[in-house]
Amino acid sequence: MEKKFENLPKHIAIIMDGNGRWAKQKGLPRTEGHKVGAEVFRKICEYCAEIGVEYVTFYAFSTENWKRSKLEVTAIMNLFRRYLEEMQERYLENEEAGYRIRFLGAREGMPKDLIKLMDTVEEKSADKTRININLAVNYGGRDEIVHSVKDIAARVKQGLIRPEDITEDMISQGLYTAGQPDPDLIIRPSGEYRLSNYLLWQSAYAELYIDDVLWPDYTPADLDRAIEEYGRRNRRFGAV
Ligand code: IPE
Ligand code: IPE
Ligand code: MG
Repeated sequence: MEKKFENLPKHIAIIMDGNGRWAKQKGLPRTEGHKVGAEVFRKICEYCAEIGVEYVTFYAFSTENWKRSKLEVTAIMNLFRRYLEEMQERYLENEEAGYRIRFLGAREGMPKDLIKLMDTVEEKSADKTRININLAVNYGGRDEIVHSVKDIAARVKQGLIRPEDITEDMISQGLYTAGQPDPDLIIRPSGEYRLSNYLLWQSAYAELYIDDVLWPDYTPADLDRAIEEYGRRNRRFGAV
């Protein structure tokens, strides 16, 4: 395919927000918004692979989203289960999909059968190279940093490293995104101007793009607009 963008971000991170409002506008239960949102997620994955994005990270469920009603949480987990099952089946019959899939977030607290499916999908896709897809589930940016810091503290306690030897890189290596580049562009549909605990460490120099479109209405053309705008930004990283 001919190159579509002059300046394509290497890593795009998306906050899949607005499912509930979308459903409400249509007089439907919130869970219907999540259902359509899950389809949009699949479409945007495909599109990112098509245009050559190397890494794309989607925020699907935060450590704070457990506060929602049992009905809503169960519906989201069921959609996630169906996605994992389909993924597993598709990998058996369609090896060329080329998606490397990883899950960011705490496994603890997730339903046991889902943990097993997540591990299987990660293992099965570990050698795929077309695109890296991360799905943040039971993910919290602060939780992730605490997790990394605890690892480092344990190594200090064992005498493997000294406190003065701790580096930014060590903290990065203890995050769920270890080994992956930081996001260049973070997109939040549905018009909220906040990160909601998403990729707090990794977003240090990310470009932010807020869109009014609700996630279930999100299309490849909306992503094109964000990428074009990204291409016009002047990233300075603190320099002049
Ligand atoms: C995002 O949509 C999905 C999750 C957070 C799980 P919301 O459910 O937050 O939708 P709004 O923000 O209420 O519209
Ligand atoms: C962020 O959306 C989490 C996900 C999209 C998974 P929220 O809807 O939970 O964020 P707040 O509550 O508006 O900050
Ligand atoms: Mg929301």
